[in-house]
This record gives sequence, structure tokens and C-alpha cells, in this order.
Amino acid sequence: PDERTLVLIKPDAVRRGLVGEIISRFERKGLRIDAMQTRTLDGGFADQHYAEHVDKPFYPPLKAFMTGGPLVALVLAGDQVIEVVRAMIGATDGRKAAAGTIRGDFSLSNRENLVHASDSTDSAKREIALWFPELG
Ligand code: CMP
Repeated sequence: PDERTLVLIKPDAVRRGLVGEIISRFERKGLRIDAMQTRTLDGGFADQHYAEHVDKPFYPPLKAFMTGGPLVALVLAGDQVIEVVRAMIGATDGRKAAAGTIRGDFSLSNRENLVHASDSTDSAKREIALWFPELG
């Protein structure tokens, strides 16, 4: 039974020309792309996406970063996709993420860490409804 997750390929990855590399990893893993769109976020949408972080000290620069250029949003599907994708992207801080993960291989930052992925079934449900309401 397939599960779905929301993935954002963040503005740093778009700027650095890593979109193809990142999508390719998900495709080679065997995950299915159910939706994909390029978007540039406004502040209000960033606040909605990161509702649980808006009051944190790291949020203002995170918001500036996430609204600072186009990103690619995807819905990926597959068996245990939430956990599988979290493992493929690695720890939040690119300096600590394991080699072989997307962040471990391409990021040296705690903020500009290339990808976001839903961290639970509840957040996947909420985030997919926010980004792709037409998917139901
Ligand atoms: P993400 O998986 O999108 O979830 C929240 C984001 O906030 C995270 O990736 C990072 O981009 C950023 N973030 C989390 N913790 C910190 C931190 N301590 N300092 C700066 N940015 C952070």
C-alpha cells in the first residue's frame, strides 16, 4: 500500500543546479512522482508551511531563504516513502548528515540544506493538502 510524502527541493538546490541530481536519486530508488511544480513562495505561504517553526529564533532567516528564489515541490509515493525519503536526505545539518545522503553529499549548512521532506504521516497529510489541494 503506497504512502505519500511532500518534498521541497529548496532554492539553494535550484540555484546550484542540483534539481536533476536530487530527482534522479528518488527515481532510481523506485519512488513515484505523483505531482511536481516550480514555485516561488510568498511570506504568508512560508509561514503556513513552517507553522511549527514560526516562533523559533532560526525562522526569520529560514523564511528569507525559502522565499528568496524558486523551489520545486513534489509529492512522492511508494512503500514507507516518508521514512525512506527521510533516510535518503539525511540529518538536518549538512555538516553532520551521513555521506551518501543528499545533504551529506551536497550541503555544509544547517539552513541551506537542499531538501525538505514531511517527517510523519500527519505532517505529510497536512503538507500535501497545503501544497497540492487538488490531490485530495
Ligand atoms: P526542514 O527539514 O525544511 O525543516 C525546518 C528547516 O529549518 C530545516 O529543514 C532547516 O532548513 C532549518 N533549520 C532547522 N534548524 C535550524 C537551525 N538550528 N538553524 C538554522 N536553520 C535551521
